[in-house]
Amino acid sequence: MGLISSLIFAVLLGALTGNAAPLIQKRGIGADLLARFKLMEQYASAAYCANNYNSPGDQVECASGNCPLVQDADSATVAEYSREETATDVTGFVAVDHTNKLIIVSFRGSTSIDAWRTNFEFDTTATDICSGCTAHHGFWNSWLDARDRVIPAVKQASTTFPSYQITVTGHSLGAAIATLGAAQLRNSGYTAALYTFGSPRIGGTKISSYISNQSGGNYRVTHWNDPVPKLPLLTMGYVHTSPEYYINKPNKKDVLSGDIQIYEGAINLRGNTAWLLIDIEAHRWYFGSVYTCDAKKGKRGGLEIRGVEGGVDIVATF
Ligand SMILES: *[C@@H]1O[C@H](CO)[C@@H](O)[C@H](O)[C@H]1NC(C)=O
Repeated sequence: MGLISSLIFAVLLGALTGNAAPLIQKRGIGADLLARFKLMEQYASAAYCANNYNSPGDQVECASGNCPLVQDADSATVAEYSREETATDVTGFVAVDHTNKLIIVSFRGSTSIDAWRTNFEFDTTATDICSGCTAHHGFWNSWLDARDRVIPAVKQASTTFPSYQITVTGHSLGAAIATLGAAQLRNSGYTAALYTFGSPRIGGTKISSYISNQSGGNYRVTHWNDPVPKLPLLTMGYVHTSPEYYINKPNKKDVLSGDIQIYEGAINLRGNTAWLLIDIEAHRWYFGSVYTCDAKKGKRGGLEIRGVEGGVDIVATF
């Protein structure tokens, strides 16, 4: 399993045609929400560490040292899975955190080039999230392979700890699966907050609008010039859930409350989308380093993605 070591984007400038929907911009978030973002980003990172998806019942820990807030909390996983027998290879855990009174559902991003190839086939498929709602078929199939592990574990944990808040998180591919998982948990009657980091677009207007309208809290966090939230492209019919919490800070810098800008709208050409020059390193750094646990120098595949966004031709080579 090789990790993608590099991603080169060549951006050919075209005319920027602004057809953006009306949007509302706010600068800055409260200290409590910032603290919650940092904690949830570390729970998303923890899903890359094998000890958190191999053997349920233990404290959530990251040997790579990038989840100190998680390790400070008194937690235990109640379900861990890595569905290597399925094509999607979906991996993650459900944990209870007694310090923060949370039930956490966390999904790992992809670590293999094969998974990324699956990610970046852009066909959509029907879902049972809502009527007429289609989503990316790879993301949806990943959630289908996870849900018989996730939903019973959430059900049991919320029966045992009814006052704990259900939170769903993930980074990258894991963020896309988290979005679909949170939507389905809400449809099943649970109140679930969703925190995603570097999520690709998950589907078309209908499902994105449906999820944006759900209550429980939708926190879609993007960072600087991370390429992944720019995919699949708007011109392929994909849009984002709203709002976007955009971290306006370069890599490896401490993020302060005022560094986060909030943009609303399924199509918002500000925030992360405004970047023309993009850098995979910004995908690997959110409030700290994400997914270092299984990091290995990977090989570059021959995958190429082309498209036009905001009047700009984008060519991505993995
Ligand atoms: C989401 O809410 C908006 C505003 O109330 C509404 O116009 C839209 O139809 C809703 N979308 C879905 C899919 O329910």
